[in-house]
Amino acid sequence: MKFQRPKGTKDILPNQISKWKFAEKTIAEVMDLYNFREIRTPTFENTFLFTRGVGAETDMVGKEMYSFVDKGGSPLTLKPEMTAPVMRAYLENGLFNELAVQKLYYITSMFRFEKPQEGRYREHSQFGAEIIGSDDIYSDAEIIMLAREVYRRLGILNCRLKLNSIGKPEERKKYVTRLKEYLEKNFRDLSADSQRRYETNPLRILDSKDANDRKITEHAPHIIDMLSSESRKRFDMLCDILNNMNIPFEIDFRLVRGLDYYTDTTFEFVSDKLGAQDAIGGGGRYDGLAQALEGKPTPGVGFGSGIERVIIAAEKSGFEFPKPAGIVCYFITMNEASRKVAASIAASLREAGKSCGMDLLARSMKSQMREANKLGAKYVLIFGDEEMKSNLVILKNMENGSQETIAMRADEILKHLS
Ligand code: HAM
Repeated sequence: MKFQRPKGTKDILPNQISKWKFAEKTIAEVMDLYNFREIRTPTFENTFLFTRGVGAETDMVGKEMYSFVDKGGSPLTLKPEMTAPVMRAYLENGLFNELAVQKLYYITSMFRFEKPQEGRYREHSQFGAEIIGSDDIYSDAEIIMLAREVYRRLGILNCRLKLNSIGKPEERKKYVTRLKEYLEKNFRDLSADSQRRYETNPLRILDSKDANDRKITEHAPHIIDMLSSESRKRFDMLCDILNNMNIPFEIDFRLVRGLDYYTDTTFEFVSDKLGAQDAIGGGGRYDGLAQALEGKPTPGVGFGSGIERVIIAAEKSGFEFPKPAGIVCYFITMNEASRKVAASIAASLREAGKSCGMDLLARSMKSQMREANKLGAKYVLIFGDEEMKSNLVILKNMENGSQETIAMRADEILKHLS
């Protein structure tokens, strides 16, 4: 039997890993600068966390969850997103007692049963951040700036920020009634998916990708025109803050997002380098989520962003990820005696913080040289038979080709390694 990885998953191979590490390091650095602390939650959660938190009518809950009943009979789901788990952890661990405003971030795998294509996987890696405990509009702005700064540092300069507000649930209810009235006359022409959504989740018809649906909704009423004066004020303030900070954005009435917990602000960063899966990251405010999870009312705002998409967008924008550092020193040995000395010198060098490697296949000198090159070794140490007799070793600088013969002692070798 020939095994293959499950559909929609990927192997991140050693020759790609440095990009991932660089992206993850950049994310962590920006999170530090903005004073967000990392949180890690379980890979699986009680399924009801998502049905309650994200919404039973959403595609995520209805179609995309990897749910199972474990051997103890508990209904569990591999986390498809992190906002509900983070809020669960916040409430369960009483994080409100620790700080009035919690700023949390994560970098973790998410699982969604989606149709795989470039930029869309069944397991993807997501980084995200949540500010829990504040409904100050500056927290919405901070989340947007944080995401933008990560993208900027990874050379993704051409992504656009789309912004909308979907108001409070009461306002949305009124809007949905108006939207349905508007759509009713064209109901027959809507795609099958949108016809279904007309009953279950009419807002999502606005972000349908179907060309005909988009034509029908082109002149649909806009939710921001139906917000209460309080919600509208919030939205205008956010636009004002972004303008003030010279952060360009576009107001997009179609931006309703796919998860039920959103209130007021919704936003998405899109990149035209990403093809059909153009959302590099997205998020918004979720002031009702804590209550939906039977916690005390607690406002929150956050975003999530797929690392695969970030890496694709960075590469397509011409960003050069730093090359992986090669090893410092590769030991070329000729026989058992030299391997023995090399192994103990290697241990001393490693102890002193110098990465080194030696041949593990007793290969010819030529093959060992080739291996040293492949590993990007800065130096090779050649334990030649003649030199060994006098307790000497040849140190070759692989960058400029120069070589010298030095004492076969770790302290002496260390002095010569830069
Ligand atoms: P989301 O829009 O579902 O939001 O996902 C966030 C980001 O994750 C997307 O913009 C995309 O970059 C990436 N992503 C999602 N699904 C996939 C996939 N199948 N393959 C590759 N990348 C994917 C959320 O998950 C919210 N929890 C974000 C949030 C945090 N809202 C408030 N706080």
